[in-house]
Amino acid sequence: MTRIISLTALVAALAASSAARPSPHTHVVHEKRGAISARWGDAMRVRPDADMHVKIGLSQSNLHRGHDMLMDVSDPSSENYGKFWTEDEVHDMFAPSDESVSAVKHWLASSGIHEIRITHSDNKGWLAFIASGNELENLLHTDFYEYVDSETGDKAIATEQYHVPKHIQEHIDYINPGIRLPYLRKRGAEARSKRSSISKIYKPPQTRPAPKFGPMSANTTGCDKLITPDCVAALYNIPPVSVTPSPNNSLGIFEEGDYYAQSDLDSFFTRFPSYKIPNGTAPTPAFIDGAKAPQQYAGGESNLDFMLAYPIIYPQNITLFQTDDSYYAAGYSEGFFNTFLDAIDGSYCTSCYAGECGNDPKDPVYPDTNSTSGYKGKLMCGTYKPTNVISVSYGGAEDAVPQYYYERQCNEFMKLGLRGVSIFFSSGDSGVASRNGCLGNSTIFNPGWPASCPYITSVGATKLPENRTVTDPEVAANDPAGHPYSSAYATGGGFSNIFGIPDYQADAVANYFEKHNPPYPYYNGSKLGENGGLYNRSGRGYPDVSANGDNIAVYVNGESSFSGGTSASSPIFASIVNRIIDERIAAGKSGPLGFLNPILYKNADAFNDITEGTNSGCGTDGFSTAPGWDPVTGLGTPNYPKLKEVLLNA
Ligand SMILES: *[C@@H]1O[C@H](CO)[C@@H](O)[C@H](O)[C@H]1NC(C)=O
Ligand SMILES: *[C@@H]1O[C@H](CO)[C@@H](O)[C@H](O)[C@H]1NC(C)=O
Ligand SMILES: *[C@@H]1O[C@H](CO)[C@@H](O)[C@H](O)[C@H]1NC(C)=O
Ligand SMILES: *[C@@H]1O[C@H](CO)[C@@H](O)[C@H](O)[C@H]1NC(C)=O
Ligand SMILES: *[C@@H]1O[C@H](CO)[C@@H](O)[C@H](O)[C@H]1NC(C)=O
Ligand SMILES: *[C@@H]1O[C@H](CO)[C@@H](O)[C@H](O)[C@H]1NC(C)=O
Ligand SMILES: *[C@@H]1O[C@H](CO)[C@@H](O)[C@H](O)[C@H]1NC(C)=O
Ligand SMILES: *[C@@H]1O[C@H](CO)[C@@H](O)[C@H](O)[C@H]1NC(C)=O
Ligand SMILES: *[C@@H]1O[C@H](CO)[C@@H](O)[C@H](O)[C@H]1NC(C)=O
Repeated sequence: MTRIISLTALVAALAASSAARPSPHTHVVHEKRGAISARWGDAMRVRPDADMHVKIGLSQSNLHRGHDMLMDVSDPSSENYGKFWTEDEVHDMFAPSDESVSAVKHWLASSGIHEIRITHSDNKGWLAFIASGNELENLLHTDFYEYVDSETGDKAIATEQYHVPKHIQEHIDYINPGIRLPYLRKRGAEARSKRSSISKIYKPPQTRPAPKFGPMSANTTGCDKLITPDCVAALYNIPPVSVTPSPNNSLGIFEEGDYYAQSDLDSFFTRFPSYKIPNGTAPTPAFIDGAKAPQQYAGGESNLDFMLAYPIIYPQNITLFQTDDSYYAAGYSEGFFNTFLDAIDGSYCTSCYAGECGNDPKDPVYPDTNSTSGYKGKLMCGTYKPTNVISVSYGGAEDAVPQYYYERQCNEFMKLGLRGVSIFFSSGDSGVASRNGCLGNSTIFNPGWPASCPYITSVGATKLPENRTVTDPEVAANDPAGHPYSSAYATGGGFSNIFGIPDYQADAVANYFEKHNPPYPYYNGSKLGENGGLYNRSGRGYPDVSANGDNIAVYVNGESSFSGGTSASSPIFASIVNRIIDERIAAGKSGPLGFLNPILYKNADAFNDITEGTNSGCGTDGFSTAPGWDPVTGLGTPNYPKLKEVLLNA
């Protein structure tokens, strides 16, 4: 969205009136605004000769077909299974069509705005031109007003609704200036404060000091107290690496605002000598928009991710998608994930969706003028190739960002799936709640973002309870506050309020409701909390799968300690899939597996079904595990040999 700095000179002394202009019957209302904040007072009509910088976002083509196209390459029963698309093929399929471009240009020309005045973005995403106030009002059959934020003095131009010709409507995503007003800024010190408690980052629920662990020979005694690499291998029957890893299959790991420390990795490698990981082993940098790692003092997340992944995949490499310069990564931005997606898909930088063309005002702006040490380069677009597998241990609540913001990202995960990328997200550490609590009167379950996107594999957490061995069943991770972490922790799961139940899990979800109906009222229409309901019976269920996420041995800032969270589960599962891709390549097959859920749900017996435990939250016990898929541990934990057989023969 274009930022408007000072427009006072552009405004005529006319107060806003709500009288809607008549429009010809050939035209339709394209966008209409709802109520706005009382802070936007004193709206004045824009002057006829004011310069208006207009941007027309063009609709992506074929987005509504994206789901079916993804299933066509991801469903093992499809004849196109595994026939992934190139980056250009994906781009061409969804880019606004030439027909859209010419239809909109033709409309503009016939309204007196000739082609020579129009700038067209590289990937067809939008058209831009400068028009006078009068011209734009006539074009859109509306009146424009300049609004002033009574608290900050910020100004913005907008209208209540605008019209376009009927035959043009399908080609246009949105027009700016249009109905949108910018996010209301806070003032002074408040404006510079960090992301609030709606923080979107899962961190391990606080590492805790543990009995020091010394060098260990391979063994699985004590896995009920401390999960070492040997315990992970034993739980999921992961054999030692036996094929030469492919140079084209580095494991992708995303981090933001949290950094690994090399000395901690080295201490960890030294503690587990049987994995023969030499000191200095470090991820391959794919640093985005000024991000840098390692740093001297580690965060709990990055160390945890690498300490779990390396023992599973070494000597395969890890590619570290460290994102955002230190200013934005520290939380001085409400947006999340968009700069990462820009960096691995150039077309994401300018594609339009639901009124957003490229990044949102919530996202970091580069070059970064906010901080002297900030990244002064241009926003990275398509700088890196996505890896075959990407693990992300970050997320928040579905309602932490606007719905269009989340949907645009979820569509992007669909496009990455078409290109053969397998994406794993932690399911969250707050059970049926989210980090920022519950919905409605704090009783309605709050699903996770991006955990509930139907085009990613969401990974929940399990735990090996005290006195059990690695051959005993695990349970859903659910620890009350103080036992052992300072805050309560339960593996995230539930049902989306945004996305419907995808076909690949429809039978699994129906089976759960039929045989293990949760003891809570639910809603299934568009009204949150209808009938006193606590969850959306028609939403996408998550997680899809799970892996251990409790009592994990780590090294942080020179100390051995325990950590946990679904933050651990995602890299474990992703590492296993990465290993299997290496096995495929070694067997002479094409490597990438793309979006995995369709094949995983068809092969539930490749998992250790978890049938004990719940995911408490919102003052309830949450959902219960059950035989088969459940919204606590998904299909269960991986059984490497079985999963390998399924995915090697796919
Ligand atoms: C096995 O691992 C446990 C910790 O999980 C450790 O206390 C013990 O010393 C190890 N045993 C051997 C023989 O290394
Ligand atoms: C891992 O990275 C190192 C350093 O770039 C390289 O020498 C090695 O060949 C890579 N290994 C694989 C399996 O790609
Ligand atoms: C790696 O990928 C490149 C192209 O991206 C290809 O030329 C090469 O053969 C691949 N190497 C292996 C071992 O698959
Ligand atoms: C590896 O690094 C660790 C931690 O700094 C250190 O204790 C250990 O002696 C090093 N090992 C070698 C072989 O240098
Ligand atoms: C960053 O700077 C721009 C102008 O340079 C300002 O509009 C914006 O509010 C600042 N953002 C933050 C998060 O400080
Ligand atoms: C919210 O919960 C409180 C305490 O149970 C109750 O008194 C109040 O009426 C509820 N409000 C709504 C809007 O349901
Ligand atoms: C585990 O076993 C020990 C020793 O037999 C016993 O004291 C403890 O209560 C057991 N813990 C649980 C959770 O069963
Ligand atoms: C429940 O899920 C359905 C399907 O995605 C959706 O259409 C509906 O709006 C959701 N209800 C609420 C209240 O979010
Ligand atoms: C939606 O919920 C209502 C009441 O809880 C129930 O009668 C209806 O059958 C449900 N519909 C679906 C499609 O689940």
